[in-house]
Amino acid sequence: MDYRYYEQEFQKKYARSPLLVRSPGRINVIGEHTDYNEGFVLPAAVDKEIVLAMARNDTDTIRITALDLGEEVQFEVSQADRVAEPWARYIAGVLLQFQQLSMDIGGFDCAFGGTIPLGAGMSSSAALECGVGLGMATLFDHEIEPMELVKAAQRAENEFVGVKCGIMDQFANVFSRKDHVIRLDCRDLSYHYFPAELDTHTLLLFDTQVKHSLGSSEYNVRRSECEEGVALIVRHFPETQINSLRDCTKEMLDQVSPRMPGKVGDRCTYVIEEIQRVEQACNALQTNELDRLGKLMYETHEGLSKKYEVSCAELDFLVDQTLPMKAVAGARMMGGGFGGCTINLVERSGKEDVVAAVKRSYSEQFDKEPKVYEVNIAEGTGTINAFAS
Ligand code: GLA
Repeated sequence: MDYRYYEQEFQKKYARSPLLVRSPGRINVIGEHTDYNEGFVLPAAVDKEIVLAMARNDTDTIRITALDLGEEVQFEVSQADRVAEPWARYIAGVLLQFQQLSMDIGGFDCAFGGTIPLGAGMSSSAALECGVGLGMATLFDHEIEPMELVKAAQRAENEFVGVKCGIMDQFANVFSRKDHVIRLDCRDLSYHYFPAELDTHTLLLFDTQVKHSLGSSEYNVRRSECEEGVALIVRHFPETQINSLRDCTKEMLDQVSPRMPGKVGDRCTYVIEEIQRVEQACNALQTNELDRLGKLMYETHEGLSKKYEVSCAELDFLVDQTLPMKAVAGARMMGGGFGGCTINLVERSGKEDVVAAVKRSYSEQFDKEPKVYEVNIAEGTGTINAFAS
């Protein structure tokens, strides 16, 4: 990453030396749509990142330039709630959260850009939220605990952007460590780092290059379907302490699901099975059984596609293409769904052949090439230089 580019662009525009913050995108090995059900996830930050150059400007105005879009937004510190530009709302949302935490933030300038592909399911939004959060706290000398930053960024997205996302993306963005995946228990927020020793294998993302508009609305629908399922199970087992699908067993669900409306039973089945799969995946990682891990990834995809119904034709096609390929241990759609990437656990020695075959068949089917990213697991959000203004 050429950090100097961002420093220079900032200097050209705002004529000062900036603080530099880098903020990565993330992958998730397994554990999809489990975070808001208090289950487990297994994410990691990767070496695709946003870089923010920021400096105080000693006024009450915030000026932000999105370098990759060539757009600038300006607003008063006291009027963050009026910001309308979609990308700037992630920033304004975090500012509003900081204000609610009584953190005094004044005017500043910011220029940012980076390499996280947009709409690919790699959480560029969480990267922007947490990166700007760390930048603001640093500029205005506020101590913020990493978990507090994670939660403020998540609330910004829930309350101001309007996506009722769970905590995984912001957590992975802040807590990641190079060459490790993190198993996060989304119920009590305890976490454990697992070395990702993928010597023989590598992680490839195939980007469908589509983002179906259903994305955020259906996400919120899935969330309420899960809540509806929990409410019905609670009614059936009044003596048991149940707060979420994490507290429900398959046996409990089997008793209640015939009376669940619409797709609610299927949604709950997927989530309960997926929470168990993360545990199995962690065991497989620990014993370096990558074929077993891969098999679990395929099972996750099947569940996301058939029971949770957040996949799409392009994602299903990409996963199906890899099924007969010996060099692919596992593949599945990643993130919220309805477009974006698949994540593939691929033998290094067969990597080129897999990429060539997938590109060829996808282009024949959909008339466009999938983008391919080989990702390495990276450190979470951090500052790059000492503040030099
Ligand atoms: C999006 C959300 C996350 C998580 C995933 C699905 O990335 O932001 O909180 O729910 O979808 O696992």
